[in-house]
Amino acid sequence: MTVLATVPSLKIAAMVSGQGRGSNLGALLAACESGEIAGKFAVVIGTKAEAPALERARAAGVATTVVSPRKYSEDVEYGEVLLRILRKYEVDLLCLAGYMRHLPPSVVAAFPNRILNVHPALLPLFGGQGMYGEHVHRAVIESGMKVSGCTVHLVDEQYDSGPIVVQIAVPVEEDDTPATLAARVIKAEHQAYVRAVQFCAQGRVHVEGSRVRISPE
Ligand code: GRF
Repeated sequence: MTVLATVPSLKIAAMVSGQGRGSNLGALLAACESGEIAGKFAVVIGTKAEAPALERARAAGVATTVVSPRKYSEDVEYGEVLLRILRKYEVDLLCLAGYMRHLPPSVVAAFPNRILNVHPALLPLFGGQGMYGEHVHRAVIESGMKVSGCTVHLVDEQYDSGPIVVQIAVPVEEDDTPATLAARVIKAEHQAYVRAVQFCAQGRVHVEGSRVRISPE
């Protein structure tokens, strides 16, 4: 199955959580602006109005909207609201960029192989609930691994799961703290996310079972 094979210019949406600083979003916005990604951001959805990530989107002239999951007692209602927005903006690809929650199943089902997430470790290691931010980098350092990195993957119903589109490895240095490792990994995240969205925009992402093949240009 080829992801977004027939879309000429991708309409992208992003979702960000709470206080999301939005550095991945910033990298994607810049890559759309420079033409590196053949696509355009249609909307950025945040869970809290004061998220710096939403400010970045507004500064780039992109529509933003806030949907607080706490307002909804059920995933079903929350999912309906999200889907209404994604359909209104005719979104082709949804990028989770520091979105820390589980997406409602209805959204995952409505966008099969059309949702990307970035994770600050080499999945399937160091993923799952509770594995975010410094927790991930601390777990990597404590494991004794010499290599960490980042993963951009297609989103399925589980946490930090789904076919892997791009991974970039980053060395773990002997004197690393979670903060110093995070600082190195985030730079790789920006590269990996731009590359993954670019591959999708070019119709080069082919999902074969749990594996992804990227076809040559
Ligand atoms: C990144 O580390 C990403 O892997 C994780 O959330 C963080 C978001 O960072 N899912 P930023 O808001 O893009 O700077």
